Amino acid sequence: MKKKAIESLSVQTKVVLPHDTNTLNTLFGGSLLAWMDEIASISAHRHCGRVVVTASINNVSFDRPISSGEIVTLEAKVSRAFSSSMEVFVDVYVENSNGTREKCNEAIFVFVAIDQNRNPINIPALIPESMEEKERFDSALRRKQLSLVLAGRMSPEDAVELKAALFPKL
Ligand SMILES: CC(C)(COP(=O)(O)OP(=O)(O)OC[C@H]1O[C@@H](n2cnc3c(N)ncnc32)[C@H](O)[C@@H]1OP(=O)(O)O)[C@@H](O)C(=O)NCCC(=O)NCCS
Repeated sequence: MKKKAIESLSVQTKVVLPHDTNTLNTLFGGSLLAWMDEIASISAHRHCGRVVVTASINNVSFDRPISSGEIVTLEAKVSRAFSSSMEVFVDVYVENSNGTREKCNEAIFVFVAIDQNRNPINIPALIPESMEEKERFDSALRRKQLSLVLAGRMSPEDAVELKAALFPKL
């Protein structure tokens, strides 16, 4: 059975409290990572209905400091499902006082669905619908290959799609 990307959407809104801040009185990166990991795992669980574990956290970018007292919204959605693993995008926004919101962070997680013996288990395929979902779906295989190469789980020679994107003239 296939599932739509939108079915995995998870949204959480938080306010930055003093216990989440660093010495500059802005959000501590480790706290934000924990928030992102939690919401990404909910999204992955919504896609596959299984226990999931974080296999990898990639492409974390902290583009703008978030001050104490600011309101933060995290949005997570599965961008592609493979055999047992899923890629999940987390987009982080800060709410401005005029009601608009500004994107300030992004991270890409990989979760693996496991069975009762903690072995990877097959999951439903994902159907991307919006333009952004399709773009993220199409590029996910290259990111999976990069993550596996960096983890020493794949030989660079075998990362065919990644190599083609990085070195198109080879
Ligand atoms: C993640 C884990 C289940 C993978 O188990 P494994 O026996 O090595 O399984 P496999 O090698 O068959 O990999 C399973 C899937 O994970 C993917 N995967 C594993 N490591 C990965 C990585 N670093 N980056 C991207 N994908 C990865 C594989 O590509 C495979 O995907 P596919 O089935 O969709 O093709 C295992 O390493 C584990 O339990 N790690 C600890 C997880 C953990 O404790 N997380 C933090 C707390 S939640």
